[in-house]
Amino acid sequence: MALFERENDEFRPDLRSQALSVIAIENDFVVNVYDKLASVYDLIFGPILHPGRLVALERIGINPGDRVLEVGVGTGINASLYPQNCHVTGIDFSSSMLEKARARIGRKGLSHIRLMQMDAQSLKFADDSFDVVYAPYLVNCVPDPVQVVREMRRVCRPGGKIVILNHFRSANAILSRLDRALSPLTVHIGFKSDLDLPGFLAQAELRPVSIEKVSIPPLWSLVISSKDIH
Ligand SMILES: C[S@@+](CC[C@H](N)C(=O)[O-])C[C@H]1O[C@@H](n2cnc3c(N)ncnc32)[C@H](O)[C@@H]1O
Repeated sequence: MALFERENDEFRPDLRSQALSVIAIENDFVVNVYDKLASVYDLIFGPILHPGRLVALERIGINPGDRVLEVGVGTGINASLYPQNCHVTGIDFSSSMLEKARARIGRKGLSHIRLMQMDAQSLKFADDSFDVVYAPYLVNCVPDPVQVVREMRRVCRPGGKIVILNHFRSANAILSRLDRALSPLTVHIGFKSDLDLPGFLAQAELRPVSIEKVSIPPLWSLVISSKDIH
């Protein structure tokens, strides 16, 4: 099974080279977990993660006609939050999660949303294709979160928004230990609890315009960046 625990000496003080989690995973492991989770995902991760989803959509401020990419669309739980006058593309790697999303979008008649199966680490879109590229609760699920950001940046148009909503390892020393201790367990329900935010930002070369704690308790961070205009 493609799941590894790292040795302690892989954690180095240099933000640009340190391991971002105690856990290393591969795509087949993640897809297997989400294929199994699909039928209960909304029940387990629906209400608890919803306050963050609502704040994120409010802060993003999608404009009429915007092309929005949701990376890791899952069961399409965000679908009805997007305004009808924008164009949303949702991608996900898990066919079972996408099946749920298709059913939801069909049921609700959300014709402004299209779904595609794809790896977030290797997006099949041309450069500069979207005005908003949004990854809700995704970057701690994937093997290589830095590569996901590279792809998000590539497909975002210059001046567009790159938005990440996620749980990261706590800055509090005790909670940080807890996050690390729990990560080998939480990975079996779809996420690493100890993704290091400063290291992640440094390695992804993301310079956020804002980082906001969301939800109660404030266990999730909303990171908003803008793709540089060259
Ligand atoms: C925690 S769920 C988030 C779903 C939704 N965005 C939400 O707000 O609840 C993470 C999703 O990312 C998907 N995922 C994990 N690794 C992926 C990858 N490499 N490429 C695309 N999607 C991936 C999973 O299948 C799952 O549906």
